[in-house]
Amino acid sequence: MSNASSIRCLITAGPTREFIDPVRFISNPSTGKMGFALAEAALAAGWNVDLVAGPVALEEPDGAILYPVVTAEEMFHQVDALFDACDVLIMTAAVCDFRPVTQHVHKEKKDDASMTIEFERTTDILKTMTARKAHQTVVGFAAETKDVVTYAKNKLESKNLDFIVANEVGQPGTGFAADTNEVLLIAADGSSVKLGPASKTAIAKELIQLVTPIIS
Ligand code: CTP
Repeated sequence: MSNASSIRCLITAGPTREFIDPVRFISNPSTGKMGFALAEAALAAGWNVDLVAGPVALEEPDGAILYPVVTAEEMFHQVDALFDACDVLIMTAAVCDFRPVTQHVHKEKKDDASMTIEFERTTDILKTMTARKAHQTVVGFAAETKDVVTYAKNKLESKNLDFIVANEVGQPGTGFAADTNEVLLIAADGSSVKLGPASKTAIAKELIQLVTPIIS
């Protein structure tokens, strides 16, 4: 049975940025608050925490090892390097699914009346990690604007996860940028627990407790 101080947790947080040229990128409104709250809760539980964060404006949790990244590819390489040593992976990051095929070296000029950008898929970090999962507990987040539970269950299965946190986004008080949240934690055996509405701090504390027994 592992004790808390021997548990190593890898958490991803925040958005990624995919650059079109040196001054323009596509991204999403993720602020990293849920991931940072989970890092704080894991630290409070006595876990060791590796925190891989996209561009966020949050204070570094005291005691976590912070790995700042910008793009989905950088996040993938950082998670890839840390995954084998972790006991729990929690992917709260809102990873961009697409990046421009071409990243222009210089700022693109507005010569034309319209512009078309071709995008290609980024690596699915969770799927790549679960394909070589050994003892790890892997937790994903499903950010959805409709049919939240159905989509979340599909992701739980297709990404071979132990848990998925179904999170409705795009409504006030939940999801991106909010200080509060309301989520459904769904386990691979089909059981589920509703958490919130509550502060992201309170939800994070409960989530850490709920994923703990699996690795204890
Ligand atoms: N994720 C990932 N790598 C990606 C995209 C997402 O590891 N390239 C992870 C997220 O961190 C999250 C989970 O997959 O834990 C689900 O992310 P989400 O954006 O909700 O779903 P997608 O897999 O991107 O699918 P879709 O965009 O079709 O909803």
